[in-house]
Amino acid sequence: MTHAAFPDLRLRRTRRTGWSRAMVREHRLTPSNLIWPLFVCDGSGAEEPVASLPGVSRWSVDLAVQRAKDAVAAGIPCLALFPYTQAERRSDDGAEALNPDNLMCRAVAAIKDACGDDIGVLTDVALDPYTSHGQDGLLDAGGYVVNDETVEVLVEQALNQARAGADIIAPSDMMDGRVGAIREALEVEGFGHVQIMAYSAKYASAFYGPFRDAVGSRGLLKGDKKTYQMDPANVEEALREVEQDLAEGADSVMVKPGLPYLDVVRAVKDAFAVPVYAYQVSGEYAMIEAAVAAGAGERDALVLETLLAFRRAGASGVLTYHALHAARLLNA
Ligand code: PBG
Repeated sequence: MTHAAFPDLRLRRTRRTGWSRAMVREHRLTPSNLIWPLFVCDGSGAEEPVASLPGVSRWSVDLAVQRAKDAVAAGIPCLALFPYTQAERRSDDGAEALNPDNLMCRAVAAIKDACGDDIGVLTDVALDPYTSHGQDGLLDAGGYVVNDETVEVLVEQALNQARAGADIIAPSDMMDGRVGAIREALEVEGFGHVQIMAYSAKYASAFYGPFRDAVGSRGLLKGDKKTYQMDPANVEEALREVEQDLAEGADSVMVKPGLPYLDVVRAVKDAFAVPVYAYQVSGEYAMIEAAVAAGAGERDALVLETLLAFRRAGASGVLTYHALHAARLLNA
Protein backbone atom coordinates (compact mmCIF):
# COMPACT_ATOMS: atom_id res chain seq x y z
CA MET A 1 0.00 0.00 0.00
CA THR A 2 1.32 3.40 -0.87
CA HIS A 3 0.96 6.26 1.58
CA ALA A 4 -0.63 9.51 0.62
CA ALA A 5 1.66 12.46 0.83
CA PHE A 6 0.89 16.09 1.60
CA PRO A 7 -1.68 17.57 1.21
CA ASP A 8 -3.71 14.40 1.84
CA LEU A 9 -1.54 13.70 4.84
CA ARG A 10 -1.63 16.62 7.25
CA LEU A 11 -0.30 15.77 10.72
CA ARG A 12 -1.58 19.08 12.05
CA ARG A 13 -5.19 17.90 11.47
CA THR A 14 -5.38 16.01 14.80
CA ARG A 15 -3.60 18.82 16.65
CA ARG A 16 -6.19 21.46 15.79
CA THR A 17 -8.43 21.26 18.88
CA GLY A 18 -8.11 20.25 22.50
CA TRP A 19 -10.55 17.34 22.24
CA SER A 20 -8.67 15.93 19.30
CA ARG A 21 -5.26 16.30 20.96
CA ALA A 22 -6.68 14.43 23.96
CA MET A 23 -7.81 11.58 21.71
CA VAL A 24 -4.39 10.99 20.17
CA ARG A 25 -2.34 11.56 23.33
CA GLU A 26 0.05 8.63 23.75
CA HIS A 27 1.19 9.06 27.36
CA ARG A 28 -0.43 10.37 30.51
CA LEU A 29 0.74 11.61 33.87
CA THR A 30 -1.43 11.14 36.96
CA PRO A 31 -0.74 11.63 40.69
CA SER A 32 -0.35 7.85 40.98
CA ASN A 33 2.86 8.19 38.96
CA LEU A 34 4.48 10.33 41.68
CA ILE A 35 6.63 9.46 44.69
CA TRP A 36 7.28 12.39 47.04
CA PRO A 37 10.67 12.56 48.82
CA LEU A 38 10.38 14.15 52.27
CA PHE A 39 13.19 15.26 54.59
CA VAL A 40 12.59 14.81 58.31
CA CYS A 41 14.29 16.47 61.27
CA ASP A 42 14.12 16.34 65.06
CA GLY A 43 11.85 18.47 67.20
CA SER A 44 8.16 19.19 66.98
CA GLY A 45 6.33 21.87 65.05
CA ALA A 46 9.60 22.41 63.18
CA GLU A 47 9.96 23.40 59.54
CA GLU A 48 13.51 24.01 58.32
CA PRO A 49 13.74 25.37 54.76
CA VAL A 50 16.61 23.96 52.68
CA ALA A 51 18.32 26.97 51.14
CA SER A 52 19.57 25.23 48.00
CA LEU A 53 16.12 23.67 47.40
CA PRO A 54 13.75 26.66 47.40
CA GLY A 55 10.27 25.49 48.39
CA VAL A 56 11.55 22.30 50.09
CA SER A 57 11.81 21.97 53.87
CA ARG A 58 12.77 19.45 56.47
CA TRP A 59 9.80 18.63 58.68
CA SER A 60 9.71 17.35 62.23
CA VAL A 61 7.89 14.04 62.54
CA ASP A 62 4.55 15.58 63.61
CA LEU A 63 4.55 17.87 60.57
CA ALA A 64 5.79 15.11 58.27
CA VAL A 65 2.60 13.29 59.23
CA GLN A 66 0.64 16.33 58.05
CA ARG A 67 2.55 16.28 54.75
CA ALA A 68 1.73 12.59 54.41
CA LYS A 69 -1.96 13.45 54.79
CA ASP A 70 -1.55 16.17 52.13
CA ALA A 71 -0.07 13.53 49.85
CA VAL A 72 -2.93 11.10 50.49
CA ALA A 73 -5.46 13.85 49.74
CA ALA A 74 -3.67 14.62 46.47
CA GLY A 75 -3.63 10.97 45.37
CA ILE A 76 0.12 10.43 45.74
CA PRO A 77 0.66 6.71 46.45
CA CYS A 78 4.09 6.77 48.07
CA LEU A 79 6.54 8.85 50.12
CA ALA A 80 10.33 8.48 50.24
CA LEU A 81 11.81 9.51 53.60
CA PHE A 82 15.26 10.94 54.33
CA PRO A 83 16.54 11.93 57.76
CA TYR A 84 18.66 14.89 58.87
CA THR A 85 20.78 13.25 61.55
CA GLN A 86 22.19 15.39 64.37
CA ALA A 87 25.97 15.80 64.11
CA GLU A 88 26.55 14.07 67.45
CA ARG A 89 24.71 10.98 66.19
CA ARG A 90 26.95 10.59 63.14
CA SER A 91 29.91 8.25 63.37
CA ASP A 92 32.50 6.50 61.22
CA ASP A 93 30.39 3.36 61.10
CA GLY A 94 26.99 5.04 60.79
CA ALA A 95 25.66 3.01 63.73
CA GLU A 96 22.72 5.38 64.18
CA ALA A 97 21.23 3.73 61.06
CA LEU A 98 20.67 0.63 63.22
CA ASN A 99 19.05 2.43 66.16
CA PRO A 100 15.42 1.24 66.35
CA ASP A 101 14.46 4.63 67.77
CA ASN A 102 16.26 6.75 65.18
CA LEU A 103 14.57 9.64 63.41
CA MET A 104 13.83 7.57 60.31
CA CYS A 105 12.10 4.80 62.28
CA ARG A 106 10.08 7.29 64.30
CA ALA A 107 8.95 9.02 61.10
CA VAL A 108 8.00 5.75 59.41
CA ALA A 109 6.04 4.56 62.44
CA ALA A 110 4.21 7.87 62.89
CA ILE A 111 3.20 8.08 59.24
CA LYS A 112 2.06 4.46 59.08
CA ASP A 113 0.16 4.97 62.32
CA ALA A 114 -1.66 8.01 60.94
CA CYS A 115 -2.20 6.90 57.35
CA GLY A 116 -2.09 3.09 57.35
CA ASP A 117 -2.30 1.67 53.87
CA ASP A 118 -3.58 4.95 52.41
CA ILE A 119 0.02 5.61 51.41
CA GLY A 120 3.21 3.60 50.99
CA VAL A 121 6.41 4.54 52.78
CA LEU A 122 9.71 3.96 51.01
CA THR A 123 12.94 4.10 53.00
CA ASP A 124 16.42 4.69 51.62
CA VAL A 125 19.10 2.16 52.56
CA ALA A 126 22.61 3.67 52.59
CA LEU A 127 24.76 4.99 55.40
CA ASP A 128 25.49 8.54 54.21
CA PRO A 129 22.91 10.35 56.40
CA TYR A 130 24.54 8.67 59.42
CA THR A 131 28.29 8.67 58.72
CA SER A 132 30.71 11.34 59.88
CA HIS A 133 32.48 11.10 56.48
CA GLY A 134 29.40 11.30 54.25
CA GLN A 135 30.16 8.12 52.31
CA ASP A 136 27.43 5.50 51.86
CA GLY A 137 29.37 2.65 53.49
CA LEU A 138 32.22 1.62 55.76
CA LEU A 139 35.76 2.76 54.94
CA ASP A 140 39.00 0.81 55.08
CA ALA A 141 42.25 2.44 56.24
CA GLY A 142 42.78 3.91 52.78
CA GLY A 143 39.32 5.45 52.66
CA TYR A 144 37.91 2.90 50.19
CA VAL A 145 34.26 1.95 50.75
CA VAL A 146 34.39 -1.78 51.51
CA ASN A 147 31.66 -3.82 49.90
CA ASP A 148 30.87 -6.97 51.85
CA GLU A 149 31.20 -5.51 55.33
CA THR A 150 28.97 -2.62 54.26
CA VAL A 151 26.35 -5.05 52.94
CA GLU A 152 26.16 -6.69 56.37
CA VAL A 153 25.32 -3.32 57.93
CA LEU A 154 22.85 -2.43 55.17
CA VAL A 155 20.96 -5.66 55.84
CA GLU A 156 20.57 -4.62 59.50
CA GLN A 157 19.54 -1.11 58.42
CA ALA A 158 16.88 -2.54 56.10
CA LEU A 159 15.53 -4.81 58.84
CA ASN A 160 15.44 -1.86 61.23
CA GLN A 161 13.32 0.07 58.72
CA ALA A 162 11.06 -2.91 58.02
CA ARG A 163 10.41 -3.38 61.74
CA ALA A 164 9.38 0.29 61.93
CA GLY A 165 6.82 -0.35 59.20
CA ALA A 166 8.52 0.53 55.91
CA ASP A 167 6.62 -0.78 52.87
CA ILE A 168 9.39 -0.45 50.30
CA ILE A 169 13.09 -0.79 51.02
CA ALA A 170 15.16 1.19 48.53
CA PRO A 171 18.91 0.45 48.62
CA SER A 172 20.69 3.51 47.21
CA ASP A 173 24.20 2.51 48.24
CA MET A 174 25.35 0.73 45.04
CA MET A 175 27.20 -2.06 46.87
CA ASP A 176 27.36 -5.37 44.98
CA GLY A 177 25.05 -8.08 46.26
CA ARG A 178 23.02 -5.97 48.67
CA VAL A 179 19.64 -6.64 47.11
CA GLY A 180 19.96 -10.41 47.49
CA ALA A 181 21.26 -10.12 51.04
CA ILE A 182 18.43 -7.78 52.05
CA ARG A 183 15.80 -9.92 50.31
CA GLU A 184 16.95 -13.03 52.12
CA ALA A 185 16.99 -11.32 55.51
CA LEU A 186 13.51 -9.86 54.96
CA GLU A 187 12.15 -13.32 54.11
CA VAL A 188 13.80 -14.94 57.12
CA GLU A 189 12.60 -12.25 59.52
CA GLY A 190 8.97 -12.42 58.41
CA PHE A 191 8.90 -9.44 56.06
CA GLY A 192 8.16 -11.37 52.90
CA HIS A 193 5.61 -8.74 51.82
CA VAL A 194 8.05 -5.82 52.03
CA GLN A 195 9.09 -4.69 48.55
CA ILE A 196 12.53 -3.77 47.31
CA MET A 197 12.92 -0.90 44.86
CA ALA A 198 16.57 -1.03 43.88
CA TYR A 199 18.45 2.09 42.94
CA SER A 200 20.02 -0.08 40.24
CA ALA A 201 21.43 2.49 37.88
CA LYS A 202 22.60 5.21 40.20
CA TYR A 203 25.22 7.46 38.68
CA ALA A 204 28.03 9.39 40.35
CA SER A 205 26.35 12.66 39.51
CA ALA A 206 26.94 16.37 40.03
CA PHE A 207 23.18 16.80 40.52
CA TYR A 208 23.02 15.60 44.14
CA GLY A 209 24.44 18.72 45.83
CA PRO A 210 21.23 20.19 47.32
CA PHE A 211 20.22 16.76 48.67
CA ARG A 212 23.49 16.57 50.56
CA ASP A 213 22.62 19.97 52.09
CA ALA A 214 19.20 18.66 53.05
CA VAL A 215 20.55 15.60 54.90
CA GLY A 216 23.57 17.53 56.21
CA SER A 217 26.29 15.46 54.56
CA ARG A 218 27.66 18.00 52.07
CA GLY A 219 30.26 19.57 54.32
CA LEU A 220 31.34 16.14 55.57
CA LEU A 221 31.89 14.39 52.27
CA LYS A 222 35.49 14.26 51.11
CA GLY A 223 36.16 13.15 47.59
CA ASP A 224 33.45 11.57 45.50
CA LYS A 225 31.44 8.34 45.17
CA LYS A 226 32.89 7.12 41.89
CA THR A 227 34.15 3.79 43.25
CA TYR A 228 30.57 2.63 43.76
CA GLN A 229 28.16 4.90 41.87
CA MET A 230 28.16 4.49 38.08
CA ASP A 231 30.08 6.39 35.43
CA PRO A 232 27.70 8.73 33.55
CA ALA A 233 29.24 7.43 30.32
CA ASN A 234 27.77 3.94 30.70
CA VAL A 235 24.47 2.40 29.68
CA GLU A 236 25.32 -1.28 29.04
CA GLU A 237 26.60 -1.42 32.61
CA ALA A 238 23.24 -0.04 33.80
CA LEU A 239 21.53 -3.00 32.16
CA ARG A 240 23.87 -5.39 33.96
CA GLU A 241 23.11 -3.70 37.28
CA VAL A 242 19.38 -4.00 36.64
CA GLU A 243 19.70 -7.64 35.56
CA GLN A 244 21.60 -8.46 38.72
CA ASP A 245 19.20 -6.64 41.06
CA LEU A 246 16.18 -8.35 39.48
CA ALA A 247 17.88 -11.75 39.79
CA GLU A 248 18.48 -10.98 43.47
CA GLY A 249 14.81 -10.23 44.10
CA ALA A 250 14.15 -6.55 43.38
CA ASP A 251 10.46 -5.83 42.70
CA SER A 252 11.18 -2.65 40.81
CA VAL A 253 14.25 -0.72 39.72
CA MET A 254 15.29 2.90 39.55
CA VAL A 255 17.38 5.11 37.31
CA LYS A 256 18.93 8.18 38.92
CA PRO A 257 19.33 11.07 38.12
CA GLY A 258 16.34 11.57 35.86
CA LEU A 259 16.19 14.01 32.98
CA PRO A 260 19.80 13.64 31.76
CA TYR A 261 19.30 9.83 31.84
CA LEU A 262 16.00 9.32 30.00
CA ASP A 263 17.86 7.15 27.49
CA VAL A 264 18.79 4.81 30.34
CA VAL A 265 15.15 4.67 31.50
CA ARG A 266 14.11 3.70 27.99
CA ALA A 267 16.88 1.12 27.59
CA VAL A 268 15.98 -0.53 30.91
CA LYS A 269 12.27 -0.54 30.10
CA ASP A 270 12.89 -2.10 26.68
CA ALA A 271 15.22 -4.78 28.05
CA PHE A 272 13.21 -5.84 31.13
CA ALA A 273 9.43 -5.89 31.47
CA VAL A 274 9.44 -4.56 35.03
CA PRO A 275 8.36 -1.35 36.77
CA VAL A 276 11.07 1.27 36.24
CA TYR A 277 11.19 4.45 38.32
CA ALA A 278 13.22 7.57 37.73
CA TYR A 279 14.51 9.96 40.38
CA GLN A 280 14.33 13.59 39.34
CA VAL A 281 17.01 14.57 41.81
CA SER A 282 17.65 17.65 43.90
CA GLY A 283 19.89 19.42 41.37
CA GLU A 284 17.26 18.98 38.68
CA TYR A 285 14.60 20.46 40.97
CA ALA A 286 16.94 23.35 41.76
CA MET A 287 17.57 23.97 38.05
CA ILE A 288 13.87 24.27 37.35
CA GLU A 289 13.36 26.61 40.29
CA ALA A 290 16.36 28.70 39.19
CA ALA A 291 14.91 28.92 35.68
CA VAL A 292 11.59 30.09 37.12
CA ALA A 293 13.30 32.65 39.36
CA ALA A 294 15.25 33.94 36.37
CA GLY A 295 12.09 34.35 34.34
CA ALA A 296 13.22 31.73 31.83
CA GLY A 297 10.09 29.63 32.11
CA GLU A 298 6.79 29.10 33.86
CA ARG A 299 6.88 26.68 36.80
CA ASP A 300 3.67 24.71 36.26
CA ALA A 301 4.39 24.09 32.59
CA LEU A 302 8.04 23.18 33.19
CA VAL A 303 7.10 20.76 35.95
CA LEU A 304 4.35 18.97 34.05
CA GLU A 305 6.33 18.75 30.81
CA THR A 306 9.40 17.28 32.49
CA LEU A 307 7.35 14.76 34.48
CA LEU A 308 5.44 13.67 31.38
CA ALA A 309 8.78 13.13 29.62
CA PHE A 310 9.61 10.42 32.18
CA ARG A 311 6.38 8.63 31.33
CA ARG A 312 7.18 8.85 27.61
CA ALA A 313 10.61 7.34 28.30
CA GLY A 314 8.94 4.34 29.93
CA ALA A 315 8.94 5.16 33.63
CA SER A 316 6.11 3.84 35.81
CA GLY A 317 6.69 6.76 38.11
CA VAL A 318 8.98 9.56 39.21
CA LEU A 319 10.46 10.54 42.55
CA THR A 320 10.23 14.31 42.51
CA TYR A 321 10.34 17.16 45.00
CA HIS A 322 7.60 18.76 42.90
CA ALA A 323 5.25 15.83 43.58
CA LEU A 324 2.66 17.61 45.73
CA HIS A 325 2.58 20.66 43.48
CA ALA A 326 2.29 18.49 40.38
CA ALA A 327 -0.42 16.28 41.88
CA ARG A 328 -2.47 19.34 42.80
CA LEU A 329 -2.09 20.72 39.26
CA LEU A 330 -3.18 17.39 37.82
CA ASN A 331 -6.21 17.24 40.13
CA ALA A 332 -7.31 20.80 39.43
C1 PBG B 1 22.06 8.57 49.40
C2 PBG B 1 21.22 9.26 48.40
C3 PBG B 1 21.57 10.38 47.62
C4 PBG B 1 20.41 10.76 46.95
C5 PBG B 1 19.41 9.85 47.30
N1 PBG B 1 19.93 8.92 48.18
C6 PBG B 1 22.82 11.19 47.53
C7 PBG B 1 24.09 10.59 47.16
O1 PBG B 1 24.16 9.47 46.66
O2 PBG B 1 25.10 11.26 47.41
C8 PBG B 1 20.31 11.96 46.04
C9 PBG B 1 18.93 12.47 45.80
C10 PBG B 1 18.85 13.86 45.26
O3 PBG B 1 19.87 14.48 44.87
O4 PBG B 1 17.74 14.37 45.21
N2 PBG B 1 22.74 7.46 49.02
